Amino acid sequence: MVIEQKIQELLDKRAQARLGGGQKRIDSQHAKGKYTARERINMLLDEGSFEEFDMFLTHRTTDFGLDKQQYLGDGVVTGYGTIEGRVVYVYAQDFTVFGGSLSETMSKKICKVMDQAMKVGAPVIGICDSGGARIQEGSRSLAGYAEIFQRNIDASGVIPQISAIFGPCAGGAVYSPALTDFILMTEQNSYMFLTGPKVVKTVTGEDVSTEDLGGALVHNQKSGVSQFMAATEEEGLQMIRDLVSYLPQNNLEEPPYRPTEDPIDRKDDALNEIIPDNPNKPYDMQRIIHSIVDDGKFLEVHKDFARNLIVGFAHFNGMPVGIVANNPAFFAGVLDINASRKGARFVRFCDAFNIPIVTLVDVPGFLPGTVQEYGGIISHGAKMLFAYGEATVPKVTVTVRKSYGGSHLVMGCKQLRADINYAWPSAEIAVMGPSGAVEVLDGKEIAAITDPAERAELVAKKEQDYRNKFANPYDAAKFGYIDDVIEPRNTRFRIIRALQALETKRDTNPPKKHCNIPL
Ligand code: HXC
Repeated sequence: MVIEQKIQELLDKRAQARLGGGQKRIDSQHAKGKYTARERINMLLDEGSFEEFDMFLTHRTTDFGLDKQQYLGDGVVTGYGTIEGRVVYVYAQDFTVFGGSLSETMSKKICKVMDQAMKVGAPVIGICDSGGARIQEGSRSLAGYAEIFQRNIDASGVIPQISAIFGPCAGGAVYSPALTDFILMTEQNSYMFLTGPKVVKTVTGEDVSTEDLGGALVHNQKSGVSQFMAATEEEGLQMIRDLVSYLPQNNLEEPPYRPTEDPIDRKDDALNEIIPDNPNKPYDMQRIIHSIVDDGKFLEVHKDFARNLIVGFAHFNGMPVGIVANNPAFFAGVLDINASRKGARFVRFCDAFNIPIVTLVDVPGFLPGTVQEYGGIISHGAKMLFAYGEATVPKVTVTVRKSYGGSHLVMGCKQLRADINYAWPSAEIAVMGPSGAVEVLDGKEIAAITDPAERAELVAKKEQDYRNKFANPYDAAKFGYIDDVIEPRNTRFRIIRALQALETKRDTNPPKKHCNIPL
């Protein structure tokens, strides 16, 4: 009898904890088109796999009458569960409890799952929906943030860390997601900024809406702070499940193999025709990627940011890889500051988590001009160089068309430790394009000709001479910078063979405390 009462007490407490800040606030959350913390966790994880920690923890603040406002579990739901059977640790801020604002207790709960995730070597997924530091707790709340940040830093490169922003994320609170590997935002209801519209108005006089200051579009298209955007929370959580399926549990594991029926020697004749005769005409690099990877499945990362470069995950004969590809359909695939930041961060992520890198090159150069130079393209471009040069994972590069100058070097060239470099017959590997080269080499001779027709004829001839010399892969192949020139339709097979050969690759960097990448 007594035990029955005790069990009933437990069940009552659990029911109370599951109500968070109460039914009224849950209804208000739903009315905004948002799910509660537990609903989100249940959608993210395999059905019935969630094990919750610290359901009965409460905050310890007595000021401002808070001793009379106690909610079991406080403003965050934490624990672990599985995604496709693999363990992940999770926390989801509960907006129904003090607006999900961070208390000392909440920080302890979040740190507990982060510490345990580090011990067992499993990813951490955080779902943010919070009014920031709990105002009533003052510096204890700030210290709580710092405790989380330190763990984000320690875990970086050890376990994958993923953040979903499903509500407000403001002030210094943005820095925990910013320290993680990937951020996903929902189109509606989610925003991130250091200072809100009101403070912006006071300090700078600028009138700006919450959306325009830090909405999902802003951070996916303009700032690059967020890598994924979802129309709904359901879609976002599914995207995270998909993302996790490409990643190893930690930096000591290989990424998970995904069985496929897609034949390794599947040829695509259309690839032999995809490069236009006119070297200045764009084509669809996505078409090449989807053609060569397993089952045409490609998870694009940072899809809406710096679209002149494509990065994302795919499989080759079941092996997960990171793909980096120039996109001639956007600014001719030129590299600029944002593309360099995007590419470098992606390459470093792949290297940290043992994911081989396949690079598809069609790059006319770095974007010239004062905007880029004043913005520090030298340092940003150097990040790409650094990331490729430091990466020890298997690296396979296929040059499909242009590969000019400095941009040739940053896109997985042989001397920056790419392992196997292939080129299509359409490849052009040179210091610069024909028109620029002729201008530099023969500009004076050309300018001396007064007759326009005669001048145009000379320019055409000089450019043709230059093309004959460099607009092919054989000049580079002659020096061993290209290992083989391959038929485009065989690209999938050749990449898979290369990756198979490189599977046991071991390479190291010199011992050091850490590198000094040009941040
Ligand atoms: C305590 C908070 C809170 C906070 C919200 N609440 N933010 N309680 N500390 N920071 C409470 C509200 O009092 C309310 O309680 C409930 O949460 C829901 O908030 P509402 O305002 O009713 O919701 P909504 O209209 O949706 O507005 C959400 C909001 C707004 C935009 C997030 O609450 C807001 O502006 N909050 C303050 C944001 C902020 O400035 N935070 C500090 C940022 S600086 P009841 O009881 O009515 O349900 C910071 C420093 C971090 O965080 C530094 C880290 C290093």
